[in-house]
Amino acid sequence: MYSSLRILLYTTLTVLPVLVSGQLNDLAQRRGKLYFGTETETWEFNDTTYLSHLNNVREFGALVPGNSMKWEVIQPGRYEWNFTLADQIVDLAEHNGQHMRCHNLVWHEQLPGWLVNGTWGKENLTAVMIDHVVREVTHYKGKCYAWDVVNEVLNDDPNNGTLRSDMWLDIIGPEYIAIAFEHAARADPHAKLYYNEYDIEFKGPKHDGAMKVVKMIQDAGVRIDGIGFESHFTPSTAPGLQEQMDCMKDFTDLGLELAVTELDVRILLPDSPEELEQQETVYVDTVEACMNTEKCVGMTVWDFWDQNSWIGPLTWDLYYNGYGEADLYFANWTRKPAYTGIESALKHRPSHW
Ligand code: G3I
Repeated sequence: MYSSLRILLYTTLTVLPVLVSGQLNDLAQRRGKLYFGTETETWEFNDTTYLSHLNNVREFGALVPGNSMKWEVIQPGRYEWNFTLADQIVDLAEHNGQHMRCHNLVWHEQLPGWLVNGTWGKENLTAVMIDHVVREVTHYKGKCYAWDVVNEVLNDDPNNGTLRSDMWLDIIGPEYIAIAFEHAARADPHAKLYYNEYDIEFKGPKHDGAMKVVKMIQDAGVRIDGIGFESHFTPSTAPGLQEQMDCMKDFTDLGLELAVTELDVRILLPDSPEELEQQETVYVDTVEACMNTEKCVGMTVWDFWDQNSWIGPLTWDLYYNGYGEADLYFANWTRKPAYTGIESALKHRPSHW
């Protein structure tokens, strides 16, 4: 009895006020953006505090599935389709009145075994790719504000702006990119079609390579609407405000809209007040770069709770051992300086457009 009262009191005093006041999406929309959104996954719905944040449309105006729209989940077998997990996220967004960023159709990672281990020639692999794109886009027709049609098509090295060698490039050739966009456009004429990439938020060969990819699609006479700046940053390597704005302009000058698609800022652990302050600066610079770029339609964080981040104790064997605390809320649900920094920038700082 005593302990349940204590839990009730704790929830009322600490958690609820936080939920009621979360308003990043409201603030961004009031300043002319379409959304401030977050990545999520269905396994996270089990945590009730997480879910109440996720359901708060004043806080998050768009959702993107971290994994459940990827090829290995959607088409685990050659003639097998499984939309169950992604449908749950799309239904939740619809119920809450949130936009969907749909992610992703053609990528070199998270592909099913039958695809990776199959014996393919140009013709039958192109047919398989088109079939996947058309089936998935058609399933979500009218429900996705945007689709990441191709993802990370360039080499990882930011000093190498050439196309990545993977099954798509090696078997089909560079035209696989325009073909994917062409068929996504046919399947949903109203979804915004994006090319999503990382390490293009600063100047250099990879940034230039991404511009070439956009021009290649445009030269093929195929529709591309947007570029996604993933924005997975660390304080020591992140580009500053002006550089991010300059990079955004390069793409909007090509006629595209733009979105910050996967924002997070990992720091070296254990954290320190200095590091948390640097993290705040990077988050705020990125949000401001978008606010100052008229055709930047919105910002999405790659989840908002350290406990569940793709960088952290759960995944240290896979990614960035030694780094963590990349999100806006600490594991104990306290807000980071980065959170309050963004909130205050959205409330008080003028944007330049
Ligand atoms: O589902 C399997 C499970 O069966 C297995 O036991 C377990 C063992 O490691 O792995 C599980 O799969 C993991 C999957 O996430 C689902 O949780 C993979 O190992 C893990 O690699 C995978 O990580 C995802 C990563 O993409 C793959 O590259 C992250 O969750 C996801 O956040 C991340 O998202 C990407 C974007 O799509 C593209 N941009 C970069 C971004 C961060 O890497």
